[in-house]
Amino acid sequence: MEEQSSKPDLVAPCGRSFKSSWPWETMEKVGLASFVTFYRDIHIYKDALDLMLYMQLLERLKPNTVIEIGSKSGGSALWFADMISAAGRKPRVISIDLEPPTIADERIYFLKGDALDLGASLTDSLLADLPRPWLVTEDSAHTYETSRSALDFFDHRLVPGEFIVIEDGLAGEFYYKSGPNLAVAAFLAASGARYQIDAGLCDFFGYNGTINPNGWLTRI
Ligand SMILES: C[S@@+](CC[C@H](N)C(=O)[O-])C[C@H]1O[C@@H](n2cnc3c(N)ncnc32)[C@H](O)[C@@H]1O
Repeated sequence: MEEQSSKPDLVAPCGRSFKSSWPWETMEKVGLASFVTFYRDIHIYKDALDLMLYMQLLERLKPNTVIEIGSKSGGSALWFADMISAAGRKPRVISIDLEPPTIADERIYFLKGDALDLGASLTDSLLADLPRPWLVTEDSAHTYETSRSALDFFDHRLVPGEFIVIEDGLAGEFYYKSGPNLAVAAFLAASGARYQIDAGLCDFFGYNGTINPNGWLTRI
């Protein structure tokens, strides 16, 4: 397996490389473990590092709404709802998938929809009812198109302090020059000063010690 350091670099407009200080072999093991991780008997495709980063973000942001793109089995939607409930707030979790799961939980609205056409499922009237602050997590197909679509859709819908997390930039054969990372770099170049990479989260476990390198973005 080639080390990341031998690959050409990709750099965000702020100068941050998308490379991780963690060895690729270690990060690959961390990521693959999420394929055999369960929460309340439901598969949750989150790795140990990023679950902890989400916990830090939930503490800081105290979101009342989580909008998740990519539900899979529903484990992460359930985890977000439980974490917010445990903190004493009433969560609203909207989780979108081409094929949503059938879990009955009044806190979670599983919605059929396409990351490439979010306006069709996330209508203005639906969004208007969602309590702030929002945490958006893009965890669908992990292509440039789906990541960029989510970034562009939420660009002017998030308010200062809210977050959008673009997942899995470090997964897949292209390593850090993956679709999600290229989308984040291009979006940040286009959006100017509206969004910032949260280095505190990205570097919590060492430089980009996350499956989502430079993927923790906050609206300024
Ligand atoms: C990595 S899984 C989501 C894992 C889940 N968030 C978790 O952490 O447990 C990706 C999901 O995205 C969905 N998906 C793929 N392309 C999509 C698209 N264009 N729009 C919406 N969902 C999509 C797939 O059906 C799959 O269920």
